[in-house]
Amino acid sequence: MQLQYVLFTKHSFKDTTTTMKKLYRRSFVKQLFTGVSGALLLSSYKSNDPQNLNINLKVDDNSEAFWESVKAQFKFAPNLRYFNNGSLGSCPLSVQNDTNAYRATLDAFPSKYMWGGWNDEKEAVRQKVADLFSVSNEEIALTHNTTEGMNLIAKSFDLAPGDEVILINHEHKSSVIPWTVFQAEKGVILVRPVIPILPKTVEEIVAIYEAAITPKTKVISMCHSINTNGMVLPVKEVSEMAHKKGILVAVDGAQAAGMFDINLKELKCDFYAVSAHKWLFAPKGIAVFYAKKSSQNYLKPLIVAKGYKDQSIRRLENYNTRNLPELLGLGSAIDFINNIGKEKISNRSYALKHYFREQINAIPKLNLKTPEDDRLSCAIQTLEVVGKNVVSVQKELIDYYGIDTRPMSAYELNGVRISFAIFITKKDIDYLVDALKTIAG
Ligand SMILES: Cc1ncc(COP(=O)(O)O)c(C=O)c1O
Repeated sequence: MQLQYVLFTKHSFKDTTTTMKKLYRRSFVKQLFTGVSGALLLSSYKSNDPQNLNINLKVDDNSEAFWESVKAQFKFAPNLRYFNNGSLGSCPLSVQNDTNAYRATLDAFPSKYMWGGWNDEKEAVRQKVADLFSVSNEEIALTHNTTEGMNLIAKSFDLAPGDEVILINHEHKSSVIPWTVFQAEKGVILVRPVIPILPKTVEEIVAIYEAAITPKTKVISMCHSINTNGMVLPVKEVSEMAHKKGILVAVDGAQAAGMFDINLKELKCDFYAVSAHKWLFAPKGIAVFYAKKSSQNYLKPLIVAKGYKDQSIRRLENYNTRNLPELLGLGSAIDFINNIGKEKISNRSYALKHYFREQINAIPKLNLKTPEDDRLSCAIQTLEVVGKNVVSVQKELIDYYGIDTRPMSAYELNGVRISFAIFITKKDIDYLVDALKTIAG
């Protein structure tokens, strides 16, 4: 028997669109939002207004009621349980409001704001990003997505035929394709060691990387968290090992930054690319690119335009006209994160993982395909319903229960990838587990 039949009619999605249009209009005229239960009065919410946040997002409150109020900051389609943050994040209403207001400001005087009027605001966002990741503002470029960051890295290097770059078998196409097109096609060798789906220790992974190194190795390009099953790779340990041998380390942090607390200085990698529209809850098409000061000289901008002689990291984001409202919206997203607390978000990510895994471990037909150790996974878990094809499981979840997940067939995972972002509550997990039990039969 189905737990609950949720029919996603065209009507319900149309309603959402209408709601969002209304929402935009309201934010524009700065009217009060009402009817958001347990949440802030979002129209009066300024993301950096501590007074509002002291009332509702108290740092010492870790109750489910608190997390329900965090959830209320996000507006999903009716009846949708969004366990698919790994594909794309959602902006909390404060970020939507602020970004919409920035769009209105820009459209009221386009030339002023696009060409210098927001320089200070842009630098303030860079500083917020730098503070969030514990690095200098001179090490942060504000780009568009992780794919761009990995292209920038792979295209920059002047490698010779026979030089080697290490990318494990699980790397995302956003790294594999740039390294293939810009380097392998001219004779650079991409070394692809295999990492098991369920490694037991950090040391085991570092040893696989170390064994793949030869005197020809120039760069290791690695994900921080693998997109298929959420496995977290030991960036710090690999960087320490690689640097001793003069090898640079480039990291794709799309599925890590924002999910758990990251100190880029301590991670020690040379480059780190992040899509802010996933786990940082920023507007779409905004990203963070970190380059360690001492490694910046390796990089060449993907795009050159006026100002290209700038020697600072800003030369990597020199696009001429660009999406400034979304860029400033990243500042609001970081305010939102800081108002909750990045450590608190990190702890919550692990708590949701544990809550989920404890229940799943007790159900024989549900098979976790993500390493258990907290050093090896966090808020992305991939799960197989034994005896069922993942495509039909994913379809049942969305069609009958309104639960959005991502099917993962690669590496024989045959599992749905489940993401536990901060708008997921324990009640949502109970609902998901009940649905999975019913599907498993
Ligand atoms: C690990 C990883 N890297 C890169 C990307 C690409 O992200 P974007 O499209 O924002 O560049 C994704 C997207 O899901 C990802 O999971």
